[in-house]
Amino acid sequence: MVVITGTPGVGKTVTAKRVSEMRGMRLLELGALAQSGAISGKDAERESLIIDPRKLRAAIRRELKGADSDFIAEGHYGEIVPAELVKKAIVIRLDPIELESRLRDRGYPEKKVRENVQAEILDSCLIGAVEAFGQDGVVEIDSTGLGEDALAKVVSEAIDGNAGAPPGTVNWIAKLEKDGKIAKLLQ
Ligand SMILES: Nc1ncnc2c1ncn2[C@@H]1O[C@H](COP(=O)(O)OP(=O)(O)O)[C@@H](O)[C@H]1O
Ligand SMILES: [Mg+2]
Repeated sequence: MVVITGTPGVGKTVTAKRVSEMRGMRLLELGALAQSGAISGKDAERESLIIDPRKLRAAIRRELKGADSDFIAEGHYGEIVPAELVKKAIVIRLDPIELESRLRDRGYPEKKVRENVQAEILDSCLIGAVEAFGQDGVVEIDSTGLGEDALAKVVSEAIDGNAGAPPGTVNWIAKLEKDGKIAKLLQ
């Protein structure tokens, strides 16, 4: 199975759907799977659901049981997929400035916009993926400026080992510092 992960808003769902169609792979939406039986509560302050990792892992294994095709799993907690099932994890990255405007367009409350933009700046999903799957099991792809078709193509190439950069290649802090934008985004 290939895992596609990244901060909310970077384009995981759109991209994973396209790539799964292009390659005839089955799509596992971790968020949807969690909602249908692996929720342990609600984080009122964050307005988000709390996942039960054990139940979600069990649900993933159930989906895979007896399936003969290869899978793409997508979700912003991709590291939840049991490592022994994962051939490669692809972390989609997006310039935090672009991510901020996308999340605002999505109607996210300002607090959630800040939280996710900061998670992208601080490499949260990348770090989670490397901790779960190891440096060699993870590649990152900067999607900034890539339309849906172009991004799907690069992700598909990354599955074949022909695209994607090693973890640590993307450095938003350096870029934002250079542009004088870091302080405002981290406040
Ligand atoms: N490559 C892309 N270029 C521009 N916009 C995109 C791209 N991929 C997705 N989007 C848009 O960004 C938003 C978030 O996409 P989505 O796939 O739902 O992200 P995620 O699943 O990572 O939260 C959607 O409005 C989507 O249409
Ligand atoms: Mg999504």
